[in-house]
Amino acid sequence: MTHSTSARSTSTRRDFLKQTLVGGVAIGWSASSWSRVYGANERLNVASIGTGGKGWDDLTQVAKSPNVNVVALCDIDESQVHLGRAAEKISSAAKFTDYRKLLDDANQKAFDAVIVSTPDHMHAPIALPAMQLGKHVYCQKPLTHTVHEARQMRLAATKYKVVTQMGNQIQSHQFYRTAVKLVHDGAIGKVKEVHAWQSGHMGWILADDRPATKDEVPSTVHWDEWLGVAPERPYVGKIYHSFNWRGWQDFSNGQLGDFGCHILDPVSMALKLSSPLKVTAEATAMNREVWYKKSKVSYEFPATELTVAGPIKVTWYDGDGHFPSSESHGLPASYKLPASGSVLIGEKGTLVIPHVAAPKLFPEEKFADFKIEEVPARDHYVSWADACRGADHTTSHFDYAVPLTETVLLGTVAIRLPGETLLWDAAKGTITNNAKANALLTKPYRKGFEPKWL
Ligand SMILES: NC(=O)c1ccc[n+]([C@@H]2O[C@H](COP(=O)([O-])OP(=O)(O)OC[C@H]3O[C@@H](n4cnc5c(N)ncnc54)[C@H](O)[C@@H]3O)[C@@H](O)[C@H]2O)c1
Repeated sequence: MTHSTSARSTSTRRDFLKQTLVGGVAIGWSASSWSRVYGANERLNVASIGTGGKGWDDLTQVAKSPNVNVVALCDIDESQVHLGRAAEKISSAAKFTDYRKLLDDANQKAFDAVIVSTPDHMHAPIALPAMQLGKHVYCQKPLTHTVHEARQMRLAATKYKVVTQMGNQIQSHQFYRTAVKLVHDGAIGKVKEVHAWQSGHMGWILADDRPATKDEVPSTVHWDEWLGVAPERPYVGKIYHSFNWRGWQDFSNGQLGDFGCHILDPVSMALKLSSPLKVTAEATAMNREVWYKKSKVSYEFPATELTVAGPIKVTWYDGDGHFPSSESHGLPASYKLPASGSVLIGEKGTLVIPHVAAPKLFPEEKFADFKIEEVPARDHYVSWADACRGADHTTSHFDYAVPLTETVLLGTVAIRLPGETLLWDAAKGTITNNAKANALLTKPYRKGFEPKWL
């Protein structure tokens, strides 16, 4: 395994501090506006961290841009489906198994941007130091594991003036973009209420509690680096690495964490939601280790120009076969709700936004002659790479992605305190009425992996 790189970056930290802004400085510009302009033949040098699973897709989608050069690959598992396949595809890239080594002084000069596609508990611990080095970031959803981390990500993106994009790529799909435009164009009038759901089976909950047994760590796996900031625990085959870490509180935020930043995204974008005012949840019983199997989370947000007066209610449902009741969504009994999606109930009609299919307007008779204008898709990955080069913009930059992630994570705080209504002060970043809930906005970090906070 090689830990050095000979690739040379065409841009340095100093270049980032001397950035040229496209179109000049404008107050209120998002973090997506900050890149320097690259020369026509100058490529963006990218390091990809977490190259198996979704990381393989992220890497190959970004690498398809002719303006991208992937110069480094990092994965804690050297086997074929993780680091191996990526190393075969991009044989010139330097290989790492520890992101701390990748980001050290000697190696970080070789790249301008990072893709972070690790399990959720390692997003912020990797993306924060990368931003502190001036690297642009494409980071998977949910952006972070805790609310405190999410706030830090936004502060870092602003302070270090880097281009950011969260990996909720369906946002750029024509179906979600079309749904958002329908609401903005007033097709259903001002929105009164929203229900959103993911009724799929959580196949990654494989135990009720932490196993008492342990297995030998495979020779390809760097287990200490996989654990990263999380408390130490022995390796047990299959139940954590890979993919099934989703079932465990130390590494994920359950089904809401997994799907909230997708399914609540068009809701948030269509209604221009800010942060919730309050949240309360019902959930199946949990211990401190494993996530719930079914939940209902009720949010209230401040009204916006797209909603009726008074707080707007958004309710989330998840768990095997868990849908909003037909009384709450008011759709015809003959209509079968998609397995996951959202329904926006407006003054003039109702919009169903399936995850992922064409949006549908109700009542069907009323909208029979309504021509839905399809909004073309954007490339979520290449637009990020182009934005880093000063040639495009991102839509899920951290000014947008952090409030959305916070909404999702506040829901998972409420899920751990079922029945308690939590009042959220977004300006102060605190829950004003519940000390136990406030304590869940952050977590302890294992020595050797603590992020450098801002
Ligand atoms: N946007 C989407 O549609 C979508 C779909 C699936 C997963 N995801 C997100 O992608 C991320 C990864 O999920 P997954 O299902 O691919 O998980 P996974 O466990 O299957 O894959 C994670 C990869 O990262 C590697 N890895 C783990 N810890 C690492 C570390 N500290 N440093 C470097 N590499 C590390 C693993 O070896 C593996 O190759 C999660 O945040 C998940 O929420 C997003």
